[in-house]
Amino acid sequence: MKTRVIYYTNHLNVITQIQQAADELKYPLTTIQEMGDIKKNIKENEHTVVFIEANSSSNIYELCKKLNFTYPNVGIVLVGREEELDLRLAIRSGAVDVLFISADQHETVEVMERAVWELKKAQNQVEEVKELKEKRTITVCSTKGGVGKTTIVVNLAAELAKQKYKVVILDLNLQFGDVAMFCDIKPKRTIYEWTKEQYGNAHRDISRFVQQHESGVDIIPAPLRPEFAEAINENHIRAILLDIQESYDVVLIDTPVHLSEIGIISLEMSTDILVTTFMDLPTIKNTKIYVDTLDSLGLKDKIKVILNRAYKVKGIEPETVEKILGKKLFSRVPNKEKQIVMSVNEGKPFVLTNPRNPFSKNIKVIAKKLMDDKVTNKSKDSSIKEKVEILSR
Ligand SMILES: Nc1ncnc2c1ncn2[C@@H]1O[C@H](COP(=O)(O)OP(=O)(O)OP(=O)(O)O)[C@@H](O)[C@H]1O
Ligand SMILES: [Mg+2]
Repeated sequence: MKTRVIYYTNHLNVITQIQQAADELKYPLTTIQEMGDIKKNIKENEHTVVFIEANSSSNIYELCKKLNFTYPNVGIVLVGREEELDLRLAIRSGAVDVLFISADQHETVEVMERAVWELKKAQNQVEEVKELKEKRTITVCSTKGGVGKTTIVVNLAAELAKQKYKVVILDLNLQFGDVAMFCDIKPKRTIYEWTKEQYGNAHRDISRFVQQHESGVDIIPAPLRPEFAEAINENHIRAILLDIQESYDVVLIDTPVHLSEIGIISLEMSTDILVTTFMDLPTIKNTKIYVDTLDSLGLKDKIKVILNRAYKVKGIEPETVEKILGKKLFSRVPNKEKQIVMSVNEGKPFVLTNPRNPFSKNIKVIAKKLMDDKVTNKSKDSSIKEKVEILSR
C-alpha cells in the first residue's frame, strides 16, 4: 500500500523538516490550506499521514477527532510549539503523535514512520478480524441418534454454498456416516483413502478425495465400510482439518453420538459447536449433562443449542428446554415430518427444493447468525487424555 503525506497549514510554507523527512522516506507531500481539499487527497487504498498545524484551526483537537472519525485510514500528527500543544488532549482526540516545531529532521522521520506503522497495524487488525469472521469450523453433535444432525449439516451447508461461501462437509460419523447418501452421492474415495494415500505426504492433496455436490458443497465422506473407521486416529483428523480449514470458508462436521478422542479434536478445532436436541425429557436431560461436560472441557463459549423438530408437546415448551439447560436456545427448527423425510430419500437438500418453507427459512437464519457471530477459539488447556477422562466420568 502506498503512503502519502498531507500538510495542513494556514500559510504556504511547509516546515522544512517535514519536507525533508517526506523526501527521505520517498512519500509524496501535498500542502493544503482548505480543509475541503483534504477529501480530494485521501485515497481509500493508501495510507495518509496528515500533519496539522496547531494554529490552523480554532479547535485543533475537535478537528482531529472529526478527521479520525471520517477517515479511518488516516494518521494525524499535530504540529506546533511545545507550549501550544497539549499531549493528553492530542491523544484523546485520536492523534497518532505530536511534532514540535523545534524537532530536527531525524525526529521528524521517526514521527512519520511511527504514524505509518500505526496505520499498517490498524489495517492488519481489521484484516485479521475479517479473516476470523469469515472462516468457521462448525461441529454438529448430539447425545442421541436420529435428532437431525445430518439433516442440519447438509441443509446448512447447502444454504451457505448458496450464499457463495466455499463449504466442505467432513463426515466424522466414521462407522455409519450418511452425508453422501443425504446428498445422493456414491463416493469412490473417502476420508479412509485419504489417510492411506495422503496422510504421510509432505505435500498433501485433499482435492482427489472430495466429492462435489451440485449445490456447490464439497463432501469428504465417511469410510465405505464400518471396520475401516478403526484405521483413522486423532492425528489424521487434526491433519485433515488443518488442510481443509485452509482451503474452505466453512467446514461443517457431522458426528456420531458417542464422543471419542477424534470427536474431541473436532470440538477443539471448531469455532462453533451446534448441540442438537429434541423435545423429549430423556434427551433434554442428557443434553444438559452433555452441555455441562463441554463447559467443563472449556468449550462453553462455542456451544449453541438447536432444538430440532420443535413442536408443542403437552408439558414441554421450548422455554422449558431453556430452563432445564440454563441456556438460551440458539434456534428452534420446526418439525416438517413428511417433507424432510422425502428430501432425504430423494437425496436433495430441502433448503434448495423448498426455500420458502419455514424449515428452510430457519436454516437461513441459523446460517446468518453463525456467520455474523464472533469467533471463539477458546478451549481449556488440558490434554486430550484428561478430557476423555472427564467425559467418561
Ligand atoms: N426438522 C425436522 N422435521 C422433520 N423431520 C426431521 C427434521 N430433522 C430431521 N428429521 C428426520 O429425522 C430423521 C433423523 O435425522 P438425521 O439422520 O439427520 O439425524 P442424526 O442425528 O444425523 O441421526 P444419527 O445419529 O443416526 O446420525 C431423518 O429421517 C430426518 O428426515
Ligand atoms: Mg447422522
